[in-house]
Amino acid sequence: MSQSNETIRKTLIVAILLSLVFSIVVSTAAVSLRPAQERNEALNLRSNMLAAAGLLSPGAGEEEIQSLFDQFEVMLVEMGTGQIVGPEAVGVENLEDYDQNRARRNPDLSRALDNDPAGINRLVNYARAYVLRDGDSIERVVVPVYGYGLWSTMYGFLALEGDANTVAGLGFYEHAETPGLGGEIDNPRWIAQWPGKKIYDEDGNFQEPKIRLIQGGVSSDADDIEHKVDGLSGATLTARGVERTINFWLGERAFAPFLEKVRAGEI
Ligand SMILES: Cc1cc2nc3c(=O)[nH]c(=O)nc-3n(C[C@H](O)[C@H](O)[C@H](O)COP(=O)(O)O)c2cc1C
Repeated sequence: MSQSNETIRKTLIVAILLSLVFSIVVSTAAVSLRPAQERNEALNLRSNMLAAAGLLSPGAGEEEIQSLFDQFEVMLVEMGTGQIVGPEAVGVENLEDYDQNRARRNPDLSRALDNDPAGINRLVNYARAYVLRDGDSIERVVVPVYGYGLWSTMYGFLALEGDANTVAGLGFYEHAETPGLGGEIDNPRWIAQWPGKKIYDEDGNFQEPKIRLIQGGVSSDADDIEHKVDGLSGATLTARGVERTINFWLGERAFAPFLEKVRAGEI
């Protein structure tokens, strides 16, 4: 009897010791791997930004990504005014530390949207923009765009040429739309339609983006073809989400005033 008790006690002690040791191992690993994880996340975001800008060669390594990224100026832009502000506006010392995603949930750093075509609920007060210069002229302006499709928020980057109107590229790097349907927003053939499209009417209103996704495809003699992109077959709702997302982020409440400054040579 006493022997069996002893066995139970020993078993429990061994089990407790083992779980203690393993929880220490797991938490140490989690803590020590965190910086590497953050570095990888930042690198991933950078490579997605560069890919949208059409500057990333396939299979580019960390060094190439970093050196391409370093050619960009990272700016913090006030939504709706286009003012460039310093990192102190978002309560950080270094712009790298600004977590734009978290800012969406912070009432000091974002505001609720009544009219919310992109389905994002809240708009950050300040968003990053990436500017690539060649001497005095601007080569690329890249802005983050995100909005709701059918099932999920689709996160991406839209790159413009130096005229702040012609699309240089678009890429979504995170979403949960259905593969083969809404998930076709990742398809390189669909993405390839975007470069060269115009966001605004050149002689018109630079506050009002004109992008349209056309279900069934854009016919070659369509009016305003420069604003039109083929929709996604069987995925009208995802396509509508993409259209609304682009037009919202390049609209007057978000990046339009900043892009106007780019055109005016004030950036
Ligand atoms: C399993 C399943 C997955 C779907 N995934 C998507 C999707 O990712 N995006 C989308 O817009 N519609 C998706 N749909 C279709 C929508 O329910 C809806 O029918 C469609 O958006 C209407 O567009 P259509 O007129 O092009 O068919 C899915 C439907 C089913 C049954």
